[in-house]
Amino acid sequence: MKDKVKAVILVGGHGTRLRRLTYNTPKPMVPVLNMPFLEYVIRNLRGHNILDIILAQYYLAESMENYFGDGSKFGVKLRYVMEGSPRGTAGAVKNVEKYLDDTFLVLNGDIFHNCDFTNMVKFHHRHRAKATIALTPVEDPTIYGVVETDRRGKVKHFFEKPEPGEVSTNMINAGTYVLEPEVLQWIPPDTKYSFERELFPQMLTDDKPVYTYSFHNYWMDMGTAEKYLQLHRDLLSDKCDNHSLEKDVIIGDKCNIHSSAQFSGSVIIGDNCTFGRGVRLAGPVVIGPNCAIMEDAVIADSVVWDNVTMNTRAVIKSSVVANNCILGSDSYLVDAVLGDHVTVDEGCKLKPGARILPGGTVKDT
Ligand code: GDD
Ligand code: MG
Repeated sequence: MKDKVKAVILVGGHGTRLRRLTYNTPKPMVPVLNMPFLEYVIRNLRGHNILDIILAQYYLAESMENYFGDGSKFGVKLRYVMEGSPRGTAGAVKNVEKYLDDTFLVLNGDIFHNCDFTNMVKFHHRHRAKATIALTPVEDPTIYGVVETDRRGKVKHFFEKPEPGEVSTNMINAGTYVLEPEVLQWIPPDTKYSFERELFPQMLTDDKPVYTYSFHNYWMDMGTAEKYLQLHRDLLSDKCDNHSLEKDVIIGDKCNIHSSAQFSGSVIIGDNCTFGRGVRLAGPVVIGPNCAIMEDAVIADSVVWDNVTMNTRAVIKSSVVANNCILGSDSYLVDAVLGDHVTVDEGCKLKPGARILPGGTVKDT
């Protein structure tokens, strides 16, 4: 791969559908196996020698810069460009135009995959495309951008979030594009503009060569809490190629675990956690750093973030619990999502599927 290929990562969305979790943490910084999601994307790019990366930002930008800095610790060069107002997917790339003078990649910042960028860029050049869109098959295409092609992979139609029955393929826009800089001329400046609804359809109308590159590796848009949890289940059950874990149980530094605590399945624990007598963890379970899990508490099939306290006999099943939550003794969560700083009172049983806003207190069921 030529050193020159740069990547723009779109990290400006509000993460609306993941809202309970993204009030204080932008979607790219949401932890996946205790590492910010964006770090996986950056590592993947580095693996293909794409080292010059531009982050197109709007929402909660600071925390990304604090963590990644200039990128040197991660083996890449990072530039941060902030929009005055949200520009949409294509407008955000127009906004970083001055850095783009050769073939470049654009990635949605909320997708976990192992797309072979090297091959995709080669494919793009071989077809002399102006834009190449990665496609992946999904079960329900109606919540994505569906792309219909001819037999050579040339795009015929786009259907962004189509109605059921409107489309005849389950191949969707995987949120990864290879583009020629010429394409930037066709995006109006200082305007909200979208690749999916505006630029790509316009390129088809104007008979510009827009190709597709299909891949069948693991792919997940972690746009909802259900998908976020599913990503963890998949990662911990080896469904995602290239991301298999060396051990079933991984325990961080300075953890204090009572000898009677029982861990089964795949379990990952961050630093500085304590586990009291009789605690049971039934994987897949991921627990962030600084958590205190008291006597006889149970966690199964769940993701718990940083600094969470679970009092005695509290139970968490198939749930996501964000930073700084406190669960009272004998409280019970199933299929729940708690934002940051939620307190669940002693003995409270949340209704299955509960979604609690950050800072909330749950007193009764
Ligand atoms: N900088 C910037 N500015 N980024 C933005 C903006 C903006 O105004 N709006 C959205 N983004 C970023 C989001 O942060 C996300 O990383 C990406 O652009 C896509 O936005 P989403 O809001 O997540 O879109 P989606 O998931 O509904 O649909 C998109 O992704 C699907 C695949 O997951 C579309 O590209 C679909 O066609 C596609 O199938
Ligand atoms: Mg998305």
